[in-house]
Amino acid sequence: MKEVNVGLLGVGTVGSGVVKILNDNAEIIKKRLGFDLKLKRVCSKSVDDDVKEIVKDIFTDSYEDLFKDDIDIVVELVGGYDFPKEFILKAIEHGKSVVTANKALLARYGFEIFSKAFDKKVDVGYEASVAGGIPIIKAVKESLSANNIQYIKAIVNGTCNYILTEMEKSQADFESVLKDAQEKGFAEADPTFDIDGIDSAHKMAILSSISFGDNVVESDVFTEGIRDITLLDIKFASEFGYKIKLLGMTRLIDNKIDVRVHPTMVRKSDVLANTDGEYNAIKVKCDMDDDTVYVGKGAGSLPTASAVVADLMDIARNIRHDSHLRTPLMSFPFNYVKKREIVDVNELEMDYYIRFSVEDSVGVLSKISGILGDNNISIKSVVQLNKGEGWVPLIVVTHKAKEKNMQNALKAIHKLDVIKDKTLLIRIDDE
Ligand code: HSE
Repeated sequence: MKEVNVGLLGVGTVGSGVVKILNDNAEIIKKRLGFDLKLKRVCSKSVDDDVKEIVKDIFTDSYEDLFKDDIDIVVELVGGYDFPKEFILKAIEHGKSVVTANKALLARYGFEIFSKAFDKKVDVGYEASVAGGIPIIKAVKESLSANNIQYIKAIVNGTCNYILTEMEKSQADFESVLKDAQEKGFAEADPTFDIDGIDSAHKMAILSSISFGDNVVESDVFTEGIRDITLLDIKFASEFGYKIKLLGMTRLIDNKIDVRVHPTMVRKSDVLANTDGEYNAIKVKCDMDDDTVYVGKGAGSLPTASAVVADLMDIARNIRHDSHLRTPLMSFPFNYVKKREIVDVNELEMDYYIRFSVEDSVGVLSKISGILGDNNISIKSVVQLNKGEGWVPLIVVTHKAKEKNMQNALKAIHKLDVIKDKTLLIRIDDE
């Protein structure tokens, strides 16, 4: 059977992985496909040294060369919003199927891109956009398609998981672990997208959309990051039987989408609590298949490139069998894709861990517990640490309470002059 030709935009970390896999694993890829999947043309601002030799004869300075007739599928691996969006839409306009790892782009403009691809009858592969090397998009879109998905709970950011794990392992504070991770190249020089939960929110928007047949976008996701987590919180979590994870979750409540990313206390017995370091883990709860869990590397050159190449192989099969859009781009045909209401987090009920910094003086505890009681919040346990510096951490764990009541209580408590510092609130996952 005739070869299928690929044009690649961007030869950075993931792009060089794609070049390596298509080169080093050409034989197994051909055996599986029954025809060659050939890297035909490459366009990039710069090229990693270790793949320079492989791409030197197929290099072009003009991205428009990737739209020529001899290219069947185009891969976008440059990241960002404006240029990749324009590039992908142009590629689709030229009748090219597209593969991308760009979660930020899809979480904002996915619907527009998929609609255009549908109109032009081409495929868009985005397995690498969520949890890198873990085949979660295919699992949700295809392998679990006989189920109603009840919820997804997931660790989808390796940087945060690495930082939280290292804090516990080396008993170090957030800032020093982050600095160390940056020096070792595990965290970006600007870590904002990762540690503030934005990268996870992009991934949860995509997972939420394909789980429920919706157009969930980044701004729909309630998002908090891990900057304020201290070693003290990690130690207390452990004493209470939990680990702190940056957890993404999505589910339907009364046909509304509940989609959130925030630090969460997860029971130590839960598989998600036992996923450490840079690993990602995604638990999908279904009505028929019950729990399935997917664990692996959510980032890195070869794991992410492996997902890109698998998408290329899928689309290449479609092309060679004169088929396209066999699996709906958003997992459901467009006439089923809705825009549901988003659940207001204030209406949810959860157990909470709260760390106050308070003056160590008479009556402080009764003032705080009084305000919590006035807001219908029942206390499960209280621990006060004696730091001997005039102020002390006061930890309160509550029974299930309404988020709105909790926020009102915190506002009132913060007006007390015995509160010294920022209060940390961590939601507890008590499934
Ligand atoms: N920066 C992400 C992470 C990988 O740390 O998991 C790319 O989304």
